[in-house]
Amino acid sequence: MQVDSPEKVGLFEALYSTRALRRYKTDPVPDELLYQVIDAGIRAPAGSNAQVWHFLIVRDADKRRRIGELYMQTWETYGKQFLENPDAIENLPKQMQLVVKSTDHLARHFAEAPVHLFVCGPEQSVGTVYPAMQNVLLACRGLGLASVITMFHRPYTKELQELLGIPEDQVAHGLLPIGWPSDKIGPVNRIPVHKVSSVDTWGESWDYAKQQPEEGLRKRWTGR
Ligand SMILES: Cc1cc2nc3c(=O)[nH]c(=O)nc-3n(C[C@H](O)[C@H](O)[C@H](O)COP(=O)(O)O)c2cc1C
Repeated sequence: MQVDSPEKVGLFEALYSTRALRRYKTDPVPDELLYQVIDAGIRAPAGSNAQVWHFLIVRDADKRRRIGELYMQTWETYGKQFLENPDAIENLPKQMQLVVKSTDHLARHFAEAPVHLFVCGPEQSVGTVYPAMQNVLLACRGLGLASVITMFHRPYTKELQELLGIPEDQVAHGLLPIGWPSDKIGPVNRIPVHKVSSVDTWGESWDYAKQQPEEGLRKRWTGR
């Protein structure tokens, strides 16, 4: 796919369909597309426009293998109950089952994602780095690529500094595996607006929002 002929995805279609995709093909992601993704990432707003972000691209297979091992170590802690007793997954509500299964899949196959993108910045820059990460997700969606924001690498600061040369004053706030999706895209399901908003005083319901469908305007933009 050429950068000048990306999928024609409208802005709202992208917003309503950019969900966490954790299953990827192993096909490489060309520099041309990766550049487009990061060039879109840096269009994000930044506190004082300081643009303190740094995008560390890891393609090297040995480094990705080591990152995959570290990622799995975190999942072995958080996902212990599911790794020890896979039947426990089947007892979860359907939506949660899907999240746990795809999280488990990603942990087992993390090294195979052709690109590991660390989005870094100083300790205090998290509010600046996150909008850039969201832009990366949306740019991936626009190009037919898949990704997800992850943090399972966070316990391994020292190991990653040694492996990747990350300076001590930098934090790898997010790690985004990027590849071609083998999962299906969208739609994004969320708790509806009326349950997460108030008007004038905290807790006063927004009547307009209450009258809207529980799925919000999702069907308008994704057809589902
Ligand atoms: C701050 C943050 C940290 C996250 N960390 C992880 C992670 O370590 N591993 C993972 O598989 N997903 C991670 N996610 C993805 C979330 O699980 C995902 O965005 C959420 O479940 C919604 O998924 P959906 O958009 O597919 O509905 C993270 C997301 C955010 C915003």
